[in-house]
Amino acid sequence: MNRISAIKIAPSILAADFARLADAVAEAEAAGADAIHVDVMDGQFVPNITVGIPVVAALRRITRLPLDVHLMIVQPERHIRAFAEAGANYLTVQVEACVHLHRVLQTIRSLGLRAGVALNPATPPVMISQVLNDIDLVLVMTVNPGFSGQTFIPGMVAKIAEVRRMLDEAESLAELEVDGGINPQTAPLVVRAGARMLVAGKAIYGAREGVAAALRALRQAAERELEAVLFGKESQVPVIS
Ligand code: DX5
Ligand code: ZN
Repeated sequence: MNRISAIKIAPSILAADFARLADAVAEAEAAGADAIHVDVMDGQFVPNITVGIPVVAALRRITRLPLDVHLMIVQPERHIRAFAEAGANYLTVQVEACVHLHRVLQTIRSLGLRAGVALNPATPPVMISQVLNDIDLVLVMTVNPGFSGQTFIPGMVAKIAEVRRMLDEAESLAELEVDGGINPQTAPLVVRAGARMLVAGKAIYGAREGVAAALRALRQAAERELEAVLFGKESQVPVIS
């Protein structure tokens, strides 16, 4: 049930049951997900350890959806080629983990992948000001990376808006993605601020109503707000603080 929408939703399999990953991906694909978000953690850049290259390769065999691979690892440059060969479509590195960010982005692009940069909550947008034309995606973390199920940090809304301004001023076509605590309540806030690609773990895989209904609810909340933005209407959602 794929459809054209200005909002992309990328379910994060970190919140799925790893013992039945293929089913989790198939469910998301059938429900109209736009990409599958894969959280790679090394126990160094973040406290948690998750999955790596073999799991990306396995997922590549079972889905046609783009694999949106989020590297929360130190020295990501050591593994770019392997993730590319495993079948990643988007490869996003944390700006804090890159000494030579420009080179890392060039390497990712040279392998034919979309190059993304993620910013931790404490990292200011200026950190990417010199690479705006070298990126295909900016990921604003709306929680501190490491775990699914954390609470959205409201202060990130202003940062998303600032990144949006920077991208527009640079006439960049890079996608603006958000990740952490995204659900039907927080989605309108980030969409109004300029995000168009939403990662969601718990809100999709932890939903009592099931993956399809949860994805539908998230998309509806995001699209309704986007429509309000485009038609100059005020937000329908209460401000959270
Ligand atoms: C957090 C990860 C996220 C996480 C999101 O470190 O980067 O992708 O899975 O999970 P939720 O949506 O549950 O906050
Ligand atoms: Zn992530």
